[in-house]
Amino acid sequence: MGIESSCDDTSAAVLKNGILLSNVTASQAVHEAYGGVVPELASRAHQQNIVPVVDQALKKAGIRKEELSAIAFTRGPGLMGSLLVGVSFAKGLARGLGIPMIDVNHLQGHVLAHFIHEANDETPNPPLPYLCLLVSGGNSQIVKVNKYNDIEILGQTIDDAAGEAIDKCSKVMGLGYPGGPIIDRLARQGNADAFQFARPNIAGYNYSFSGLKTSFLYNLRDWTKEDPDFIEHHKADLAASLEKTVVEILMKKLRLAVKDTGIKDVALAGGVSANTGLRNAFHDHARRFGWNIFIPKFSYTTDNAAMIAMTGWFKYQDKDFIDIDAPAYCRI
Ligand code: KG4
Repeated sequence: MGIESSCDDTSAAVLKNGILLSNVTASQAVHEAYGGVVPELASRAHQQNIVPVVDQALKKAGIRKEELSAIAFTRGPGLMGSLLVGVSFAKGLARGLGIPMIDVNHLQGHVLAHFIHEANDETPNPPLPYLCLLVSGGNSQIVKVNKYNDIEILGQTIDDAAGEAIDKCSKVMGLGYPGGPIIDRLARQGNADAFQFARPNIAGYNYSFSGLKTSFLYNLRDWTKEDPDFIEHHKADLAASLEKTVVEILMKKLRLAVKDTGIKDVALAGGVSANTGLRNAFHDHARRFGWNIFIPKFSYTTDNAAMIAMTGWFKYQDKDFIDIDAPAYCRI
């Protein structure tokens, strides 16, 4: 069984011999009113959700808890209050059942989500080594996966994550939370070349999104001075231009990493990988440059326990277990 509670999704999944039997996730609508995740409310919601979610995952998998052979859980990074709920619950359950505990790094889980298979699912696994663009609300990284437990970070954001920048821009536009899916929907109806925003100019494979966020904010401030209804009049064009800028920033560094490493097996992971523009860019690069691309199912892009169970399954086979005194961690 895998258990995930690092941010605002409570999730439990059951795997049997590497095949996913169930993946149940309870999301937390309570944060919508605040335009962002409120840590204290997140941990309270996890407390309410964890037992029913685990119970449902077992029922859907058609097994009893006594049949579990190990419990994998997200140990970090994430919000401490949120992590503590899943970590403590997982440890208690494993200890109660007398079975091993396996700690999983949340980011490793995202990167290995490509190995999740449901029954009769024939999608190929990425060959090792592969590159993975991991883009979420908390991270933007290019990693090289040599082995499931040997993941090299080639580059990462030096300030904001891509998802965080999109969410903040969406908030500035007065749209709901999380902004990513709303920007995605609006962008489909807009002109992506309508507006230009700042692009970072930093060396290597690292990213930066704070300049884009600031440029978006300052431009909107100036434009709304001239036309108070500017946002309302240009919502779709703003969303499309913002999405295009973020996607181009992400793909430019990824192209560089592919060129330098010579690895053309390229995967996408994390919440922002649900984005239509980014998915289209991946398909476009596959056509233009012969990349062999791996894009996860929507249900495995955002936080989920299936990826934690999958990573746990790899560690289980290596008997890579952990003791009850291993604490949760907020940062890597
Ligand atoms: O991996 P994830 O679920 O968890 C965090 O790291 O928080 O990623 C959530 C992020 C949020 O910033 C959300 O706005 C973004 O993924 N996101 C999207 C889309 N769906 C979710 N961003 C752009 N387009 C989407 N369709």
